[in-house]
Amino acid sequence: MLITTISKIKETVSGWKMQGAKIGIVPTMGALHAGHASLIKKAVEICDKVIVSVFVNPIQFGPSEDYDKYPRTLDDDVRLAEGLGADVVFAPSPEEMYGKGQRLSNDNLTYVAPPFFYVDKLCGKTRTGHFDGVCTVVLKLFNITRADYGFFGQKDAQQFIILKKMVNDLNVPIELISCPIIREESGLALSSRNKYLDEQGKKSALALSQILNNIKNCYAKGVTDVAALKETAFRFLNESHELEYLEFVDKNTLEYKTKADNDTLVLIACKVKSVRLIDNTLIAC
Ligand code: PAF
Repeated sequence: MLITTISKIKETVSGWKMQGAKIGIVPTMGALHAGHASLIKKAVEICDKVIVSVFVNPIQFGPSEDYDKYPRTLDDDVRLAEGLGADVVFAPSPEEMYGKGQRLSNDNLTYVAPPFFYVDKLCGKTRTGHFDGVCTVVLKLFNITRADYGFFGQKDAQQFIILKKMVNDLNVPIELISCPIIREESGLALSSRNKYLDEQGKKSALALSQILNNIKNCYAKGVTDVAALKETAFRFLNESHELEYLEFVDKNTLEYKTKADNDTLVLIACKVKSVRLIDNTLIAC
């Protein structure tokens, strides 16, 4: 069932709550792919009722980012989500989420501001305000749906750590579940933005997973010095790549590491022919 209004989803949720149902939410921006499918399957496995939200959230995009051209495929998304057993696709308009005629900025609307330590690095460094926008919309979705479980992809590792911090700091009554990255056979991590890549771009994009695999192999052979591990990345890069960051952080706290250990998360962001891609891995897995 497709629901587009907050009043209708609240009414539906109230009915479910009365039956004592455990509710799961899979927040997405649509253009659903096998990565999202794995989240929906997990949610269906654990919960009695599953909501997939599809909302391209304007307040998490910077002025020069791809909000307008972000792929929108609602009919396909509804088919896929329902086919996997989701009960509801909640797809509100921006006006429904933020109010008609509202100026979408934090001098007009209440935003959630995650701690500077968590946002002033990795994707937050170049995407100013991005995680404020993510936390704000996700908290709104949690409040609207009163879900017991929220499902997110490990691909957006910094996002997941920040959302967990928000849930903990603001006592939001929900359990967050992170699901593994789904990859093409080639190793390329699935992303809605892969749609922007042509064949050559897809080939170049393999550098991200190759760099991460190579770092894992070097670590397995005993290299722990982060500077030395970073050096090994360069042979995978050429003029089609614009490396934004390659960082080594603690998997729970996002603290930078100079020596890698088994709790180290390696994250990469790289533009491939102007398409911004991200990937990550635990160094010891
Ligand atoms: O990861 C995403 O697709 C988005 O950031 C999310 C969590 C749906 C919030 O808009």
